[in-house]
Amino acid sequence: MFRGVRGETELRASSLGPEDQVVQSMPDASPTKWHRAHTTWFFEQFLLLPHLPGYQVFDAEFAYLFNSYYVAAGPRHARPRRGMLTRPDLDRVAAYRSYVDEAVEQLIACVDGPTLPEVLRILEIGLHHEQQHQELLLTDILHVFAQNPTAPAYDESWRLPQAQQKSPRGFVDVPGGLYTIGHEGDGYSFDNEGPAHQIYLRPVRLARGLVTNAQWLDFIADGGYATSSLWLSDGWATVETEGWDAPGYWRKVDGAWLQFTLAGLRPVEPDAPVCHVSYYEADAFARWAGKDLPSEAEWEVAARARLIDDAFGIVWQWTRSAYSPYPGFRAASGALGEYNGKFMINQMVLRGSSHATPAGHARASYRNFFYPPARWQLSGVRLADYSN
Ligand SMILES: [Fe+2]
Repeated sequence: MFRGVRGETELRASSLGPEDQVVQSMPDASPTKWHRAHTTWFFEQFLLLPHLPGYQVFDAEFAYLFNSYYVAAGPRHARPRRGMLTRPDLDRVAAYRSYVDEAVEQLIACVDGPTLPEVLRILEIGLHHEQQHQELLLTDILHVFAQNPTAPAYDESWRLPQAQQKSPRGFVDVPGGLYTIGHEGDGYSFDNEGPAHQIYLRPVRLARGLVTNAQWLDFIADGGYATSSLWLSDGWATVETEGWDAPGYWRKVDGAWLQFTLAGLRPVEPDAPVCHVSYYEADAFARWAGKDLPSEAEWEVAARARLIDDAFGIVWQWTRSAYSPYPGFRAASGALGEYNGKFMINQMVLRGSSHATPAGHARASYRNFFYPPARWQLSGVRLADYSN
């Protein structure tokens, strides 16, 4: 698994040249080169330094450059300035990756005894961490390329999000009652997926499918982006400030809507799920449709029971749930305790996964989270209905 995950990162970066890999197009989006180095630093910092006897860091300056937000791991370069790092160059980052890969393989080969469980635990976190950055690598390079007037394609053959299930559409009943949500049992999970706990749901109906571009075009045509009463106050302020009149990456050319994708500029396909909408837009759309967004618990219960289609692998789905700790959640001590827990404020939960999520990464209890205005991620909408 270690070789597979490390190789996937390199595969995703392989079509990108040095110029592509350095640019940072906004503070939220990190350069490809930084993703490649930061995921490597993670193994060096949290796995090799504590657990491989005699390990020497590749470069003493890299901890400062490639630590993301781990305050307990020391000072770090400012996030909005990651695009200023023309040095180290790509060759040196590639050498860093190889150096750390060799050391990790050496550790895996020799570790034994009482430290084995802890080494495996950190190794597993590092792999799932790198998979998260693999998705970010793509969403971030999409944002970079979107700034280029020539609309370059990351990959001409990139598969666009398509609904797997064309029918039946409509809504499915999720019976009310007492359920357990959150991760329990075997298999990997991040700390924010637990503790598993009981929740009581009132009966709800969830859309089997995802909101489509055709539905979104109806929302636009009906003045959705021009009707303040549909929007949360913060959402309407964002519409006005940003001049939003369509989802992220949509462009009107000669009267037709196109969307900028990893495959370049493509026509908006009516049957495809809408993508690159913020929480504010998802919320306004649901209000316009006379519906709601599901809570994360409703989504998880429906996904576990396989009541909904296209839960995974198409677009992440906004929920109306604020990202907060589950009852009894405690972040681990030490730097790795900063991984999730300290971000549990002011963000909204998304469930499922996207077509850019690495295979095997997501699960029914997985909690993704972003700030309400964010729309450079592969984020879409599934509706809920409480009417009888
Ligand atoms: Fe990270």
